[in-house]
Amino acid sequence: MKTDLPTVPLTQLPTPLHALPRFSAWLDADVEVWIKRDDLTGLALGGNKLRKLTYLAADALRQDCTDLVTTGAAQSNHCRQTAAAAARIGLPCHLVLRGEPNDRPGGNLILDRILDARLYWAGSADTTAAMESVVSGLKASGRHPYAIPLGGSTPVGAVGYAFAWCEMVEQAQKIGIDFDAVVFATSSGGTQAGLSIGAGETGWSGTLHGISIDHNLASLDEITSDLTAMTAELLEVAQPYPVNVHDAYLGAGYGVLGEVELEAVLAMARNEGILLDPVYTGRALAGLIDQVRKGHLRGRVLFWHTGGTPALFAYEHELRQGLRTE
Ligand SMILES: Cc1ncc(COP(=O)(O)O)c(C=O)c1O
Repeated sequence: MKTDLPTVPLTQLPTPLHALPRFSAWLDADVEVWIKRDDLTGLALGGNKLRKLTYLAADALRQDCTDLVTTGAAQSNHCRQTAAAAARIGLPCHLVLRGEPNDRPGGNLILDRILDARLYWAGSADTTAAMESVVSGLKASGRHPYAIPLGGSTPVGAVGYAFAWCEMVEQAQKIGIDFDAVVFATSSGGTQAGLSIGAGETGWSGTLHGISIDHNLASLDEITSDLTAMTAELLEVAQPYPVNVHDAYLGAGYGVLGEVELEAVLAMARNEGILLDPVYTGRALAGLIDQVRKGHLRGRVLFWHTGGTPALFAYEHELRQGLRTE
């Protein structure tokens, strides 16, 4: 695998890898769950996007870009991490957000403002088109913006997760553990593309499970197949590892905290003192719990925590309600 791609130092790696004995006991099944803590990647409350931005920000600097521009939901973790990366490399950051300013204040949104990102609200318009118009406006005023698509899921970004896989394998080998399964949240596809390439390179033989947050199988496949192929080409690798994508956990839609997500958030918090987020990792762990209960996941299972915990503070109302009725 090609390893000499340019980077900027945004992360504190390796992130911890450790067992979850009390959570595993809570599951009361033939399973030993471990966690990879990418909520602790290091900058501005961490998360998976910093691994992608390590390569994306370097690409922007290599092209002498003057601004970073990206898009996402009002509570986008990716936007918050892009704003932090921009601050770190000293470029202005422009965030094109879905919806209206009052949809879900606090959480990531207040962090975007602390990090001095310039916010644009797309209302119900397509955010990619809205981002293109911000990019055109910047170009018209003589700037040279670097546009990062949703989730930073380009081949340049996805390589961050191919290397993350190798980091995890190195840690696991030192501890002397081999995982039967790895479970992670998947949405814009970059994490999935990278992990599947990393797994293909390391001769692993377990099962890789992507819990889809907001796409059915067909639409996620459409997003990830080209992305994975292009990332593999960039890294000069031949064979990405197959991913079992689960689309049974879409619940009541993107960003809707349901009973199963709440159960997962509370189980991880109360048994291990580890916070998940209500949108991605809460849903992904709910998928893991269900797969364990159905007997589909056994042995040593790694849950990849991809971050997002600042969004908890934007879900105060739902969390309070959930805690009242539990
Ligand atoms: C906390 C968290 N986990 C997982 C994901 C999904 O990662 P990807 O977009 O690479 O599929 C995201 C995406 O925004 C996220 O914020």
